[in-house]
Amino acid sequence: MPTIQAAAGLGLLLLAPLNSTLFLEAPCLSQNFLGHYRNGETTSSLFRLETPDCVQVASNSYLSQEPNALLAAPSSEKRLVWIEHESVDPSLLRSTHQGPLLDDVLDALSARNRDETQQTLSTTESPASPILYRTDTSVLVALPSEEVFTIDTRLPRFWKSTIVPESPSAYRVVSDDSVERVRRVLSELKFSPAVASVVNNISIPHIQNDIRFLTGEDGQSGIVSRHSFSPGARTAANWIKNRIEETGAKCRLENFRLGFAPNVICRYASIVDSNDTIILSGHYDSRGSFGSVRAPGGNDDGSGTTGILSIARTIARKRIRFHTNLELVTFAGEEQGLVGSDAYARQLRAQDASIVLMIQADMTAYRAPDEPLQLGLPERIGTPEVTALVGNISALYSPELTVGYSSACCSDHQSFITQGFPASQVFERAGPIADPMYHNSGDLSERVGYDVNQLYAIAKVQFATALHVAGFEIADSE
Ligand SMILES: *[C@@H]1O[C@H](CO)[C@@H](O)[C@H](O)[C@H]1NC(C)=O
Ligand SMILES: *[C@@H]1O[C@H](CO)[C@@H](O)[C@H](O)[C@H]1NC(C)=O
Ligand SMILES: *[C@@H]1O[C@H](CO)[C@@H](O)[C@H](O)[C@H]1NC(C)=O
Ligand SMILES: [Zn+2]
Repeated sequence: MPTIQAAAGLGLLLLAPLNSTLFLEAPCLSQNFLGHYRNGETTSSLFRLETPDCVQVASNSYLSQEPNALLAAPSSEKRLVWIEHESVDPSLLRSTHQGPLLDDVLDALSARNRDETQQTLSTTESPASPILYRTDTSVLVALPSEEVFTIDTRLPRFWKSTIVPESPSAYRVVSDDSVERVRRVLSELKFSPAVASVVNNISIPHIQNDIRFLTGEDGQSGIVSRHSFSPGARTAANWIKNRIEETGAKCRLENFRLGFAPNVICRYASIVDSNDTIILSGHYDSRGSFGSVRAPGGNDDGSGTTGILSIARTIARKRIRFHTNLELVTFAGEEQGLVGSDAYARQLRAQDASIVLMIQADMTAYRAPDEPLQLGLPERIGTPEVTALVGNISALYSPELTVGYSSACCSDHQSFITQGFPASQVFERAGPIADPMYHNSGDLSERVGYDVNQLYAIAKVQFATALHVAGFEIADSE
């Protein structure tokens, strides 16, 4: 293929269907991995191809498969962003007249380009197209780096961006060894009255207060938005840190990129000698309506964040001590493309950390009219053993939840899976996103469909899974 050979010197990208074993066999690919991306009904993996030999390997192995593509890499001052239409319920698209129109996304991107062209009186008729790859529901674009972190404020509703990492990393799979512990707990799983007495102690009134603080509905926090760049996000980060510290954890605010509010990382050290760590998480940053400064994020992801707080408060009330290190983490930068969790998962990988389980709670409170209380598990992006354990634990401790699978995807657990750590997500629904206030400035906690009982039931499941895998002691008898 002469054209491909000639272009290799300029740098090429390979977009290939997810195929774990094949990638591991080709070191020139497996050392140059740029992430997994949801691509319509499939998942695609992106690689940088640096040598003509690698281009040859890629074209021999992958180019006959669909969907895939060899793409010219952009110049080094540009950053890549993957933009996809979220999995949303058809009822939501009809009621808001917002179908998955890629043209709207392209308009949003080119509006900026047009402005700049006019200002500089450029003689070029149209700037080079930023589009490297497109389907009806996804697009890969190359943008000036100063634009990529604000792309979420320009995209039409229901479109979500993920920033492609600047430098490639090693392609990893979640190894058999790393899921061994989860598999063992699953095979021996039975109802534990001790676990039940702990998770049933989660306090609904506390959840209601906490969520009103985070959304600003309580009129006291002063929070208008928790967008990653807003002052409200920093208020929230400090407040979450202080609340969890009061429960006996050691917390730190970890800055991962200039301008972004920090990740809040809290740790309860194991009381027995163990290097293993379990992570329960949510993201506290939020996104509002296009053009609005208000982003209360009551459900996305005030619900997951409040669930984490409710778990911390219960650890303190019941005086739980763990036999494995437990981290409660709330990320920022999720809405800009998993930026905070990507940084933390890479850091843990660089430290060769032993993460035995990670469960992200993202959107747990919305319940559509006439639907039962539900727990949605990831259909695609999730470690199957972790997802199965969470599903079985739900039946034991929150039997009121109907468990099913969701095509809504790609929250912070994805960053952990990319680094080879076992992880999954808990979500509010079997099926796609149905919350009419999704990515809307009306995402408050006091509204029809916001069901704190479902948030509570899902937090119980997240917590019970950690308790079963960690092992623990209770010292609450006073
Ligand atoms: C939780 O447990 C504490 C201490 O055992 C008890 O005082 C409190 O009433 C319980 N709360 C709930 C909601 O069960
Ligand atoms: C934890 O890691 C340290 C350093 O690698 C090692 O010396 C120690 O034996 C490990 N502890 C356990 C319980 O595996
Ligand atoms: C429960 O675990 C089994 C494997 O032991 C799995 O096949 C099943 O799907 C799990 N149930 C749920 C609801 O996740
Ligand atoms: Zn979210």
